[in-house]
Amino acid sequence: MYRKEVVQQLQPWVSLDTEQLYGLIEVPKDESHGDLAFPCFTLAKTLRKAPQVIAQELAEKVNGQLLPLFEKAVPVGGYLNFFIKRSEGVRDILSAIQKQGDSYGNTEAGKGKTVAIDLSSPNIAKPFSMGHLRSTVIGNAISNILESQGYKVVRINHLGDWGTQFGKLIVAYRMWGQQLDLEDEPIKKLLDLYVRFHEEAEKHPELDEQARAAFKALEDGREEEVALWKRFIEISLAEFKAIYKKLGVEFDAYSGESFYNDKMDAVVEELERKHLLEKSQGADVVDLSAYNMPPCLIRKSDGATLYATRDLAAALYRHREYHADKLLYVVGGEQKLHFQQVFKVLELMGYEWAKECTHIAFGMMRFEGKKMSTRKGQVVLLEEVLTKAVDLARQIIEEKNPNLPDKEQVAEAVGVGAIIFNDLKNNRLHDIDFHWEEALNFDGETGPYVQYTYARLSSLLRKGNYDPSHARMPEDLSAVTGDTEWSLVKWLGRFENVLDRASEQYDPSLVAKYVIDICQLFNRYYNTTRILEGEAEEIAQKLTLVACTRTVIGKCLHLLGLKSLEMI
Ligand code: ARG
Repeated sequence: MYRKEVVQQLQPWVSLDTEQLYGLIEVPKDESHGDLAFPCFTLAKTLRKAPQVIAQELAEKVNGQLLPLFEKAVPVGGYLNFFIKRSEGVRDILSAIQKQGDSYGNTEAGKGKTVAIDLSSPNIAKPFSMGHLRSTVIGNAISNILESQGYKVVRINHLGDWGTQFGKLIVAYRMWGQQLDLEDEPIKKLLDLYVRFHEEAEKHPELDEQARAAFKALEDGREEEVALWKRFIEISLAEFKAIYKKLGVEFDAYSGESFYNDKMDAVVEELERKHLLEKSQGADVVDLSAYNMPPCLIRKSDGATLYATRDLAAALYRHREYHADKLLYVVGGEQKLHFQQVFKVLELMGYEWAKECTHIAFGMMRFEGKKMSTRKGQVVLLEEVLTKAVDLARQIIEEKNPNLPDKEQVAEAVGVGAIIFNDLKNNRLHDIDFHWEEALNFDGETGPYVQYTYARLSSLLRKGNYDPSHARMPEDLSAVTGDTEWSLVKWLGRFENVLDRASEQYDPSLVAKYVIDICQLFNRYYNTTRILEGEAEEIAQKLTLVACTRTVIGKCLHLLGLKSLEMI
């Protein structure tokens, strides 16, 4: 709102269009310099004048007819800095939050548009790795953020439920798995079988041959193999679903790779019809050398289709069945080339919408300094990570607040929240190093810190008998217009802008960093103000600020996929 006003204010005087102007406006680093700043350096080039001079001249013009929201515009260096009228600013921002509640910050930018997002997508019979955790939590947060911008979001789990690994698993199961109780910890047991298969196959290469045969039998639909495969999927899925439940993530569709088994011929035919297929060493490929990429493998010499073929079928399906305007893929950075190839092939097939396909990549997660490798079972299982996080959270709660009601639920929410937040607070493209102490610290930039601040706000409201659902805006707000309060309120006012950027850039870390800022600003206020003391009317003003802050923090927690707790 304020940015728009600044744009309006400047528009008559400068030769930039609204869009450009809007993009240039900044928040001054030093708050005493103003609330919003317009840098004059871009204009300096076209006008061939010093930016200081332009700032000076603009200040004279603008101050002559200030819009009602502003108090003054002051030139500082090459910037023109705007001061918002504080009492109006506080009233406008707090009223907007109070009125809009949980929909504060939402826009209709994506109204009428559908996004199909591919997230999590773990491989059955291989461990649910930290990479898949990243995909799950980043994908879920992006989905929530897009929903807040009015998009309809279809969350799809592209399970790795097909491929040669099932041949290996069938063989391994027949040899060593018959007496295992697969109902209990199936993923771990399937992983053990998988690892054992690889160890034994090094000594007995004929096992690989058997695995190929078993997979062939599966592809041909032989009853026995199909039944085993189905069982593996079913029990793994049950376990995955338990993890998703813990993480609070839901999907609209579990359509794994096998879902496209009967949709692949059509893709191959279409590629043929469009003269895109070429033979290369017996295989069918799409040549992409003109685009500096290796060929995209579509069909092996034995007729088997590949990962890319399935992704082509899946993209066509999603576009057609969900009427998706955008197709997003939240998958680790190591698959960059794969998606570049798939999107290029779609484009060559003549699909205009290929340019609406985006690979949302992310970096690697190291664990206490260690890189993880799936081979040999050197892998941290997500299940274990979550259990340990909840154990640690329980321990901390036991020390800090042993009489807390619902301790178990709180420990669960805090432990899981720590893991999720730790992942989301970093720019998604960065590699991250996970450290237990860091993630569960109640004072650091962590999930527990945000949840704890939220609980503190709730407790203030309870103690002050403030009921947010029957809130009204106090006549006078002078008790909450000091510098500390204004810093906080102004930041609350930026929420829409943060969500806008987070959805444009598909980057939840902007929301995570923002909510940390809000918590820090609030705690600074809390540490210097006795909120529940003073005249009733004054307390009401302060609690209004508390309630609005709580609304925004709660919304951020929700968008990031963490639980809000009333008490910790
Ligand atoms: N299952 C794959 C893996 O773990 C990720 C699948 C990502 N989605 C896709 N449509 N390719 O590597």
